[in-house]
Amino acid sequence: MSKAYVFTEYGGPETQTFVDLPRPVPGPGQLLVAVHAAGVNPVDWKVRAGYLRAVLPLTLPAVLGTEVSGVVEEIGDGVEGFGIGDEVFGALPLAGGYAEHALLPAQTAAHKPTAVSFTDAAALSVSAATAHQGIDRLNLTPGATLLVNGAGGGIGVAALQIARDLGVTVIGTASPGKAEFASSLGATHVAYGQGVAERVAAVTPNGVDAILDLVGGDALYAVAGLAVDKSRIVTAVDPTAASELGGDYFQVAQNGEALAPLAELVESGMLDPHVTKVAPFTEAAMALTAVEAGHSLGKTVLKVR
Ligand SMILES: NC(=O)c1ccc[n+]([C@@H]2O[C@H](COP(=O)([O-])OP(=O)(O)OC[C@H]3O[C@@H](n4cnc5c(N)ncnc54)[C@H](OP(=O)(O)O)[C@@H]3O)[C@@H](O)[C@H]2O)c1
Repeated sequence: MSKAYVFTEYGGPETQTFVDLPRPVPGPGQLLVAVHAAGVNPVDWKVRAGYLRAVLPLTLPAVLGTEVSGVVEEIGDGVEGFGIGDEVFGALPLAGGYAEHALLPAQTAAHKPTAVSFTDAAALSVSAATAHQGIDRLNLTPGATLLVNGAGGGIGVAALQIARDLGVTVIGTASPGKAEFASSLGATHVAYGQGVAERVAAVTPNGVDAILDLVGGDALYAVAGLAVDKSRIVTAVDPTAASELGGDYFQVAQNGEALAPLAELVESGMLDPHVTKVAPFTEAAMALTAVEAGHSLGKTVLKVR
């Protein structure tokens, strides 16, 4: 048997519980992974709440979690490039990560470099990949100014570092308590809330060349006017605002080949996913509740084994 943390109905945290499931059997194209660490992401509670139910309904109970790292225990038909015992990480299609065993599609998996910890690797395929792909869309050149809206969470911390290393001047909005953290990643911190646009304008009077938005809604509208070119507003959260503002909404593309370079950045020391909380698997509920509250500092990961 294999322990898993599931939700039994679409709804709130009260639908979450631990269960013992039969050890899964990998189908074609899948890896059976003994999970060492599982990333905790806002999408996990959004899936549980049913926000994505119309797009991809799940058979319930469904295991929470969308990104893992671990060791390959079995291989499904047609899988090439992976062997039993390989250390891997990767993304799951909306569910399956908070478990002792996960079925990871080989297409969305990559090898974990030995020097990269399982906990760091579990933070790459959703958070760091979203940061990387969002910044890629903005075609930033050295000297450009980027505003990262929502800089203090899992995606934000990766975005600050990736943009900094492109030679970009980075400004990040976050709560006041995260000022030192944002500065340590090379960004100028600006507190969000009333007057945020004026505070950013005080730092960069000619506006910003691009915005990577990780919050959406009023928080995005509050800063959107700072973008010199509205087509260079990219949001991972708010398709409606993107369309109203003339910007771009995107969803992270899951592709194992694109994950390997992120692990190399971590290995080389250029990217630290800032896993600030490593929670024991038994504390999955508390870890997800904290992420659901919406004010994480860096990334939360469950240590499964
Ligand atoms: N489109 C996609 O493919 C995709 C992929 C992954 C994630 N997402 C979405 O992207 C969003 C961010 O994900 P994440 O993993 O970075 O979340 P996270 O780790 O929970 O971080 C969110 C951060 O936003 C900050 N924040 C809250 N209100 C804010 C405001 N008004 N202005 C600025 N910052 C604010 C929070 O802390 P403070 O308030 O303390 O600053 C927190 O640090 C989520 O909505 C997630 O669902 C989308």
